[in-house]
Amino acid sequence: MPRLFIVSNRGCTLDDANPAAGGLAIGLKPILEERGGVWLGWSGCVADDRSEGCEILRSNRFKNPAFNLSEQEHAGYYIGFANRVLWPVLHGRTDLIRFKAEDYASYTAVNETYADQVQAHYRPQDAIWVHDYHLLLLGRNLRARGIAAPIGFFLHTPFPSADAMSAVPCHKELIEALLAYDLIGFQSRNDLANFSDYVVRHLGGTVSREGKVKAGGFRSQAGVFPIGIDPQGSSTLSCLPEVHELSRRLEPCFRHRYSVIGADRLDYSKGLPERMRAFEWMLERHPSYHGRAFYAQVAAPSREIIQDYANLKLELQTLAGTINGCYGEADWTPIRFINRTFSQIQLAALFRLARVGLVTPLRDGMNLVAKEYVAAQDASNPGVLVLSRFAGAAEQLTSALIVNPHDTESVADALHQAMTMSLEERRERWSMAMASIKRHDIHSWCESFLDALARTAFSLTEEQNRTITHAANA
Ligand code: G6P
Repeated sequence: MPRLFIVSNRGCTLDDANPAAGGLAIGLKPILEERGGVWLGWSGCVADDRSEGCEILRSNRFKNPAFNLSEQEHAGYYIGFANRVLWPVLHGRTDLIRFKAEDYASYTAVNETYADQVQAHYRPQDAIWVHDYHLLLLGRNLRARGIAAPIGFFLHTPFPSADAMSAVPCHKELIEALLAYDLIGFQSRNDLANFSDYVVRHLGGTVSREGKVKAGGFRSQAGVFPIGIDPQGSSTLSCLPEVHELSRRLEPCFRHRYSVIGADRLDYSKGLPERMRAFEWMLERHPSYHGRAFYAQVAAPSREIIQDYANLKLELQTLAGTINGCYGEADWTPIRFINRTFSQIQLAALFRLARVGLVTPLRDGMNLVAKEYVAAQDASNPGVLVLSRFAGAAEQLTSALIVNPHDTESVADALHQAMTMSLEERRERWSMAMASIKRHDIHSWCESFLDALARTAFSLTEEQNRTITHAANA
């Protein structure tokens, strides 16, 4: 088995009390803890000296080399291009794209820096696995440095429609560079279909039913690999004494109440104002919930330096305040808006107590919170998941109440249905969801991707050899 060499924008944080937010961080750590290997990425610090304060931390199982970004790189590559161009377009928000040529130049330069860092740490027998939209150009740069190892890429976000993608001025260069990876993994069939459409319409190429990509002189393989969680880890977490202790403390607030929980990064892709409006609509339609239902939304601060995120925070504070002001009583607050990062332990306790998990992003690659909510439930009395059809998780968790987050009334109806669902139906739906989560867990995700990478790298080499031999014989 080759050593696994993971590269992502942010490297791993070993600090469990302050975990990095987002599915990527949650997903990759258990894999490296099990298999060992290397996880290389940005330290999270902004400093002109690349290595100031950066040691190679070693968890018990894996190496964790990190490096700093300069202020200019952070502003151009990370804030400017990755988060003001790629993140919005990948989530279908072309209206939020703020393209600047100098940010793209910074993105290009930092993708070269990542290639230098990989070159400094990798061994020729490694399998290199690159993650997410920050590093679309890295595969090409590694090949240019003569690195012949199998190199895979996984996109944690959605891939948008071909039209949306073409709104990025340098879209062709980005996607052509992506084809330098041996294997390109997507979260859902929908993402792969959008990517295939892009290859046909903008690169004049083809994608076969088996996912073989051909465009110009490039060959690659694309596939769907829906990321999972570590259900064992989640249920172990739910049994920790700290979780029980916290549940005991919180229990009086939840008892006899119809409780809804949401937990997300504070991001415009998550549909948070739409959720608050749906909850408000439920209160409006069903006065029987007054004084008895509440919705707690944990919204972890994220990318706060970007104006669109600051605006959203203000919108949510205003909306929660307005709804609470309109419906609240001296002894009842309908919406609890918590703008802090909660630990996995705090979230596990809240998930287990809440009757409904409300996970309704407007667009999401997978959304691991949906899976964690299900995994945290008590099998004898489980809660109900209300899930957006625009989350990758909806392709798998089909027993959830699937909703369109833009349709406020139907989300409110789903909340009411979840609150009043019989124990028998809740158990049935939960068992189906849990079976799917166990079947497609984080370890099988990793194995299936790495198996496909090994097969692809081998068959591409075969094909390239045949082409070379053919050319030599011609
Ligand atoms: C999403 C992205 C990840 C990213 C995370 C946190 O989950 O897919 O690549 O790391 O958000 O965002 P941040 O910008 O803080 O790294």
